[in-house]
Amino acid sequence: MLKNRSIVSIDDVSQPELEDIFKTADEMSDHLKQGKPLKILDGRIMATFFFEPSTRTRLSFESAMNRLGGSVISVSEARSSSVAKGETLADTVRMAESYSDVIVIRHPMEGAAKLAARFSSKPIINAGDGSGQHPTQTIMDLYTIRKELGNINGKTVTMVGDLRYGRTVHSLLLALSNYDVEVNLISPEILKIPEYIISRLPKNFKVNVSADFDSAVEQSDVLYVTRIQKERFTDQNEYLSVIGSYSVTPETLEKMKEKSIIMHPLPRIDEIAPEVDLSPKAAYFKQASNGVPVRMALVSMILG
Ligand code: NCD
Repeated sequence: MLKNRSIVSIDDVSQPELEDIFKTADEMSDHLKQGKPLKILDGRIMATFFFEPSTRTRLSFESAMNRLGGSVISVSEARSSSVAKGETLADTVRMAESYSDVIVIRHPMEGAAKLAARFSSKPIINAGDGSGQHPTQTIMDLYTIRKELGNINGKTVTMVGDLRYGRTVHSLLLALSNYDVEVNLISPEILKIPEYIISRLPKNFKVNVSADFDSAVEQSDVLYVTRIQKERFTDQNEYLSVIGSYSVTPETLEKMKEKSIIMHPLPRIDEIAPEVDLSPKAAYFKQASNGVPVRMALVSMILG
């Protein structure tokens, strides 16, 4: 179903396709645990373009492709590629499609992956386009909730932090609106979720914009914490006015429901205290490690 398809937005993946990815990711995870080599993408090539910093996303895509027996070619800096010579994204992509079978791209410009997909006959995977979306992060976020809590339906999810520039929350909120969940959104006033995201949610979807942090924490099954996206601010004073707005501490843990989890796409700055890491509620490192089986599932399905 996903064969040869680009994943630019989370809307590009249907509900049954998500279920398929989760099932395949479970299988990939079993293979990884058993240390069995999987050579299903032998001879296939992934090109990765990371024109913005990345640790987890890039490493997990590359690890996933290697684990599947494929190989990776990559450009990590615009400076070291012909982009620095003024090459357009369209030309970069036209070149890459003749060198590879699937192209993973992270770019500071919102809409970059969509543009790339228009010029490429090979599937494009959006690994983050500015403040736009981060669909593969969302797939692993949903996978993590399902794995840690058994189900996504029926849960209350609270997203806190930079909801304006945070692309992971944009994709996740859109994805959650297809489930029977309740969502609380908590952010400083200037970092509220953009109206263009809210307007895309179904009318009957339960979302509490500007929820109160303490009461949201008490009701939540998932506390999804995000970093203030410093690099997106044009006015550094504005950034300084919101740093440290919310932080999750051992006291926060005490208010949380017994069977609840804390997630974070990482990297974190100061929004989760290191002492919280020891709690069984801290799911963010497991979330990050789910990146490999989920991306193995996705890439193997796209490459058929
Ligand atoms: C996120 C991103 O790049 O949007 N990181 C990631 O991919 N795991 C979140 C962030 O940078 O804050």
